[in-house]
Amino acid sequence: MGISYFEEKKIFKLDTERTTYLIGLSPEGYVGHIYYGRRLLGEGSNYLLRMQEPPYTPSVNLREKSSFLDAFPTEYPTGGIGDYRESCLDVRGESGSIGSELLFDSYRILKGKEKLAGLPASFGRQEDVETLEIICEDSILQLRAILSYSVFACCDMITRSVRIENIGSRHLKLEKVYSACLDMDNRDFEMLTLTGSWARERCIQRGRVRYGKQMVSSVRGESSHQEHPFIALVTPETTQESGEIYAMNFVYSGNFIAQAELSQYGNVRMVMGIHEDYFCWNLRPGEMFQTPEAVLTYSAQGLGRMTRNFHDFYREHIIRSPHKYGKRPVLINNWEATYFDFDSEKLVDIAKEAGKAGIEMLVMDDGWFGKRNCDDSSLGDWTVNEEKITAGLPDLVQRVNDAGLKFGIWFEPEMISPDSDLYRAHPDWAIQIKGRRPTQIRAQYVLDLSRPEVVDYAYKCIADILHCAPIAYVKWDMNRQLCDIGSSCLKEDAQGELMHRYVLGVYEMQERLVNEFPDLLLENCSGGGARFDPGMLYYSPQIWCSDDVDAVERLRIQEGTALIYPLASMGAHIGDCPNHVVGRNTPFATRGHVALAGTFGYELDITQISKEEREQIPEQVGLYHKYRPLIQGGDYYRLASWSMEKPYDCWEVAAKDKSHALVTFVQVLAQPNVHSRVIYLRGLEEKWKYRLEGTEEIYSGEELMKCGYLVPSCKGDFISFLYHFVRN
Ligand code: GLA
Repeated sequence: MGISYFEEKKIFKLDTERTTYLIGLSPEGYVGHIYYGRRLLGEGSNYLLRMQEPPYTPSVNLREKSSFLDAFPTEYPTGGIGDYRESCLDVRGESGSIGSELLFDSYRILKGKEKLAGLPASFGRQEDVETLEIICEDSILQLRAILSYSVFACCDMITRSVRIENIGSRHLKLEKVYSACLDMDNRDFEMLTLTGSWARERCIQRGRVRYGKQMVSSVRGESSHQEHPFIALVTPETTQESGEIYAMNFVYSGNFIAQAELSQYGNVRMVMGIHEDYFCWNLRPGEMFQTPEAVLTYSAQGLGRMTRNFHDFYREHIIRSPHKYGKRPVLINNWEATYFDFDSEKLVDIAKEAGKAGIEMLVMDDGWFGKRNCDDSSLGDWTVNEEKITAGLPDLVQRVNDAGLKFGIWFEPEMISPDSDLYRAHPDWAIQIKGRRPTQIRAQYVLDLSRPEVVDYAYKCIADILHCAPIAYVKWDMNRQLCDIGSSCLKEDAQGELMHRYVLGVYEMQERLVNEFPDLLLENCSGGGARFDPGMLYYSPQIWCSDDVDAVERLRIQEGTALIYPLASMGAHIGDCPNHVVGRNTPFATRGHVALAGTFGYELDITQISKEEREQIPEQVGLYHKYRPLIQGGDYYRLASWSMEKPYDCWEVAAKDKSHALVTFVQVLAQPNVHSRVIYLRGLEEKWKYRLEGTEEIYSGEELMKCGYLVPSCKGDFISFLYHFVRN
């Protein structure tokens, strides 16, 4: 396993436990993609590069160079010289024209993996990961491209990124620089992506790949509610258990493109990177540009295997937080309980009642600072509003602590309200185009985080608050997307750098935060789940999944999110009913079972709900603590999908050692005159016996997996059951 180079054949072989990735060089030094798929035991050869077929390589047939370039499966296509498919690199030279051509220069193989400057990225010990760097050059532009591949053998993951260096004496402009490309022969692939909107993030979408380009993307300055930096090409009929999948996910939180292109010879090119729109980066002599990382996995065992590869990988190699596997406090957040209408007394009342029910942390959401009594002012003025928090923050925190709860707080540090002291003092700190009135979204502008003094200010606001009292948790929100892309600080020819510099500014602030407050539990959020991506997971072990906490809507949102991200990274709470977004009533117990599949908490006024509901809370908190280690560390299996096909939804988490498994079954709409439902468990040991906890029922692992378990038919909409099978 790991990385090998076969000098004679000029082939690089990247092996993980179940997969092989082969890269080959043409005689001229073009870096070609030979193969990615099931693990190959032999060395492999390069016939799939089709260099022996017409039009042949340029050294044999120079007059048809473009025909070659336009068909050659390449690792990193460059624009402007005859490959007309999507390019990954467009460089404008000093002459003003675009064109680049990368030829192999050398390579380097190293144990472990180096950090990516300023960016979140996967990490691992020397025994976990090996890295291949293929160094290519364009001798005309005097540009070097270092194609980097890190191989995480145990979870079948390969991460890719590119570093571009200007090694000449002329000013170059990068107009596009993607992170990864995968060229393959088409196999009637379907493209699977995640799309949505506010309150309905990450719905699974799947359709046949057609000729031309199809993509998901964002130019909103964040990964977005609408489209997600994830793409998978799957063979037809792929299910949870069978079918082949090539998947890419982007460790980045800003503009992106994830695209599949089916071209004339039946070749599919899959690319991922920072979106080229609004992007242009100056690369002066001696400078370098580092792309974010794309994460690739291949599964020959259906979507389930792909999912578990991602979960294991993110848990072990992206999420750094000490809270990753730790006991995370069950929290109660006052947003849906009070919105902006609260004061210290109200919060303390909630905390006292919550403490009695076993809830462990109170989170004070939006509205505690400046003059913020609704959403049209004060972002940027991060001083406590003492009309609401009457005796100051340390006093409130103390009183909440006295009630037995930790204290958490909400910030939206990247923003500035037009009606704020900050804006009155520094109108130029807002992102805007000179001479054009900036567009408001939720009555706010975005801070220009390309400016170091703005990053310093925004960071200091958070740090000062955190220093004034023992605050255990921060919810870091970001409630509007970017437009009017202009900085009053960047030079004219650097305006195209703003959107990426903005993301780097966010990363810098979060990096400072986790370093200065290592025990802090950080939860990212963006108008619900608009910035739920691996970049953010590098800083926070959990991300608010959606502003829609309706138990039924959450089935779909959490199914789509858990397709890639570990359950314990999904912020999931029990809200009040009728649900504030869809107006639906669902049983309190069902809301609890659905929220158990994430980081568990409450989003309601506990002093106002019914006694019957309040009395269920201690048991729910107990369930969370009982199953937390399993949900944080186990293997996730999707057994049935309400959003795709069934009247019910069902998922399972099995312990890695197969000693027990928790199944959650939700009957969405009851149907008349139906039998019990059979569900087939996964991830158990066939030979072992399992007892269904709380009953005398005993089954073998084989029975549960091959014959299935029968969920009795029952009456009622939106009802749910937990089944815990424990080795007997
Ligand atoms: C966003 C978040 C909510 C809440 C509000 C406050 O919408 O997703 O949970 O914090 O902002 O304004």
